[in-house]
Amino acid sequence: MTDRYSLLILPGDGIGPEVMAEVVKVIDWFQAHRGMAFDVSHDLVGGAAYDAHGAPLSDATMARAQAVDAVLLGAVGGPKYDALDFSLKPERGLLRLRKEMDLFANLRPAQCFEALADFSSLKREIVAGLDLLIVRELTSGIYFGEPRGIHSDDNNPDNEGGRVGINTQRYTSGEIRRVARSAFELARKRGNRVCSMEKANVMESGILWREEVTWVHQNEYPDVELSHMYADNGAMQLVRNPRQFDVIVTDNLFGDILSDAAAMLTGSLGMLPSASLGAPMANGRPKALYEPVHGSAPDIAGKALANPIACILSFAMALRYSFGELAAADALEAAVERVLSDGVRTADLMGPEGGHPVSTAEMGDKIIAALEA
Ligand code: IPM
Ligand code: MG
Repeated sequence: MTDRYSLLILPGDGIGPEVMAEVVKVIDWFQAHRGMAFDVSHDLVGGAAYDAHGAPLSDATMARAQAVDAVLLGAVGGPKYDALDFSLKPERGLLRLRKEMDLFANLRPAQCFEALADFSSLKREIVAGLDLLIVRELTSGIYFGEPRGIHSDDNNPDNEGGRVGINTQRYTSGEIRRVARSAFELARKRGNRVCSMEKANVMESGILWREEVTWVHQNEYPDVELSHMYADNGAMQLVRNPRQFDVIVTDNLFGDILSDAAAMLTGSLGMLPSASLGAPMANGRPKALYEPVHGSAPDIAGKALANPIACILSFAMALRYSFGELAAADALEAAVERVLSDGVRTADLMGPEGGHPVSTAEMGDKIIAALEA
């Protein structure tokens, strides 16, 4: 009997629904041609959920996300929601999913496809052949630490404006060890090297980070090569010589920033997928959410300009990490590479020489045609 895979699709806002429509075509293709069986349900997140329910993620949607094998998310946010109270902003829906599903390991691969090496803002010789993986801690650190908030600072007469904004960087040793293990496991399947980034020179949480990563290395993964770098130097090294890296493991905030920098190395933010993984469920599959790294891009939403590749590659990661369908994941990634090397380009991939960009849907169709071939 074929395994059935359950998927919850949350297209979200902006270009989210447009790029997700192309993923749905890819899912249908695998069902029709590769004998896979997906139970697909759809729901709302972000501004779309706020418009319908007055909250960026309803309790019912949260419960559905907990019950499926994998969640596929498009993007959240948009200027329409800028004035909302902090707790109702679209981003809170995404952060709630990450936190309540306990998706502590966020995998952000940055690969520079040969056909796109000239599209990077860096020189071809710096980025060609780039293949690194950022493992970002996703459920702790300054994103979630307490105390937090904006308070009046009445007892401080020297504070012009009278307010104070507070966030807390807090990591437990257990939180650091579990994400370090994810990074070492992944490194063993790649180049066997991990570089850990923090600011141990100024932050106690950074000192603990370095000590705990070192502990996991010495006790459990001595076969993997480990190095440490201050995160500011890491940012510089990413644009100076990014091919020195195999796996980078870092905290929630540094990972957010470093992964945007890494994204530009690949030619376009429209290319980067991600997987957010938690502990194994009863069926052995990890809790999982897959989403493109790009945001909702409200400026191009509704214009058929968005590049669906990041979202399609996120589905390839679902095939790989949730379902163990490695051949299918390889085939989908190869189809994307093929289409790019054939010169098919969405608007974000137009070089200085110009040309005719394809629409979001045409890119999806070309990828499916490449799967057929
Ligand atoms: C990301 C995004 C999110 C983050 C936002 C949308 C909350 O920038 O996934 O990198 O800061 O984590
Ligand atoms: Mg980000």
